Amino acid sequence: MKSSCSFILGVVALAASIAQAALSPREIQEHQERRVKAGKRATEAVVGSAEGFAKGVTGGAAGATVYPTTNAELVSYLGSSTAYTIVLQKTFDFTTADGETTATGCAPWGTGSACQEAINQNDWCTNYEPDAPDVTVEYYPSATLGIQITSNKSLIGSGSSGIIKGIGVRIVSGASNVIIQNIEITNLNPKYVWGGDAITLNDCDLVWIDHVTTSLIGRQHLVLGTQADARVTISYNNFDGTTSYSPYCDSYAYWGLFFDGSDDLVTLKGNYIHHFSGRSPKVEGNTLLHAVNNYWYDYPSYGHAFEITTGAYVLVEGSVFQNVPTVLDSGATGQYFTSPSTTANAACTAYLGRACQVNGFGSSGTFSSSTTSFFSDFSGKNIASAETYAWVQEYVIADAGIGKID
Ligand SMILES: *[C@@H]1O[C@H](CO)[C@@H](O)[C@H](O)[C@H]1NC(C)=O
Repeated sequence: MKSSCSFILGVVALAASIAQAALSPREIQEHQERRVKAGKRATEAVVGSAEGFAKGVTGGAAGATVYPTTNAELVSYLGSSTAYTIVLQKTFDFTTADGETTATGCAPWGTGSACQEAINQNDWCTNYEPDAPDVTVEYYPSATLGIQITSNKSLIGSGSSGIIKGIGVRIVSGASNVIIQNIEITNLNPKYVWGGDAITLNDCDLVWIDHVTTSLIGRQHLVLGTQADARVTISYNNFDGTTSYSPYCDSYAYWGLFFDGSDDLVTLKGNYIHHFSGRSPKVEGNTLLHAVNNYWYDYPSYGHAFEITTGAYVLVEGSVFQNVPTVLDSGATGQYFTSPSTTANAACTAYLGRACQVNGFGSSGTFSSSTTSFFSDFSGKNIASAETYAWVQEYVIADAGIGKID
């Protein structure tokens, strides 16, 4: 399968010069009273704190808590130079914000009803799929570039109501100290490659993505671009690859999690990563990935979860692989340690401060490597704790994604 870097634009597509009206004080008070009645704390705030590489992230805690009511207010708050906790209490639907586009794209995998087609973004079809037949593509351009989130922000959802539809988010251009928690991002032109990325990180530091659900995404569910994403924790998210359009013309999204970068530290803990056929994750570009206590589930026999190529340094422990026939794509050129045995796992102690946990495999392929040559990269870093894979079996599916912590 042809794969290419996700393209990241450096411009802001949406104008952010918008008045910052929000809920009236009375509306906020009513909302808080309803929450107290329902047995919840009155004011929404980030729940818990990040462990692993993004430990210490505070997001918008130093600023006001605001409740946007329109798309324009949401965009304005997220791009503001002020610290904010931004609470979503409804679906923000951007699907038709920039209208609909009809253009010539291509069909690299055929024109069957379940086959993904591609937008000719940056001449991708022309340059990389010259033999693919032309097709007419009809898509919503709003989804092709995410809303920019600037430094010192928390973007959180209230209960299970915080949904952003038809556009993703981007933490880029030097942004730092950002938390996204308890929201869902959905419906980004799922029929089309280049239809949109749900969450993009590129040139940022101290980012925590927690209890987020992503679904029906045309391109990457999560992409860390080629620039450095210095300290990132991705925890307890529900990455849902279920789709009606894919490169294999089945119901499994291919473009899951892509960790590129030039100097990236990524803690991936407690995530439910399911129903994909590829890139979940693809790791490269001087990225140190600590994958711990994740639950990989339901892959087709011809797909794969991991791609580990040059510049990837990957430690996988305490995780479950259930119905993942091919855990690792062939041709891995990066370095990886799969916590293969309690004897081998003792090597973690010197660098992580504890032994590693073995992984659990059910109806899944093999994944075995005891390379420890990159372990010194963990020295002096904040390292996430590890439960057993049996703990993951019991808790992760039930607790991952939107609507679980609030
Ligand atoms: C973020 O907040 C910190 C601490 O208040 C402050 O020093 C920094 O300048 C802020 N960053 C931006 C880009 O506003």
